[in-house]
Amino acid sequence: MVLTALAVGQVRPDDVVYDLGCGDGRVLIQAAQQFGVSGVGIEIQPHLVAQAQANATTAGVRDRVIFQQGNLFDCDFRPASLVFLYLLPHLNLRLRSRLVHQLQPGSRIVSRDFDMGADWPPLRTCQVCVEDELATLYYWEVPSPEERDRLGL
Ligand SMILES: C[S@@+](CC[C@H](N)C(=O)[O-])C[C@H]1O[C@@H](n2cnc3c(N)ncnc32)[C@H](O)[C@@H]1O
Repeated sequence: MVLTALAVGQVRPDDVVYDLGCGDGRVLIQAAQQFGVSGVGIEIQPHLVAQAQANATTAGVRDRVIFQQGNLFDCDFRPASLVFLYLLPHLNLRLRSRLVHQLQPGSRIVSRDFDMGADWPPLRTCQVCVEDELATLYYWEVPSPEERDRLGL
């Protein structure tokens, strides 16, 4: 799933990838290992942050990924060029306005399983098999301020 999500997000070595709700850090760790990106993971649960940091050390990418304990609604994700989400529908909807206002136009967003509401349809979707179940990946690009206003985001 991780590699497909990164491919859907058109990951590049110069990307700064944010995983908002990063769990044990697996997405960023694989992105750093396979594509050489740098990344920031925000996670509310301290034990998962510690796990993510330990996993990054074991994987040899501790110099490229940072895991921070905190609430993603308080974090500044302006440096991101690619954002990965695997949250819940109501969290995506709450986050949507922050994403489109904080990120540069053209920044990319990939969300596993949950969209951003009917009034911001994804540019692409793709299905991927994860442990014998189908997951859906949704892809958006942050619109220009004019387009953002037109869409009412
Ligand atoms: C389904 S897991 C996804 C983990 C990881 N992104 C992945 O794909 O493997 C969602 C994670 O988001 C975290 N989370 C939920 N709400 C959060 C919030 N407000 N701020 C930071 N992390 C949050 C949860 O603790 C959980 O670890």
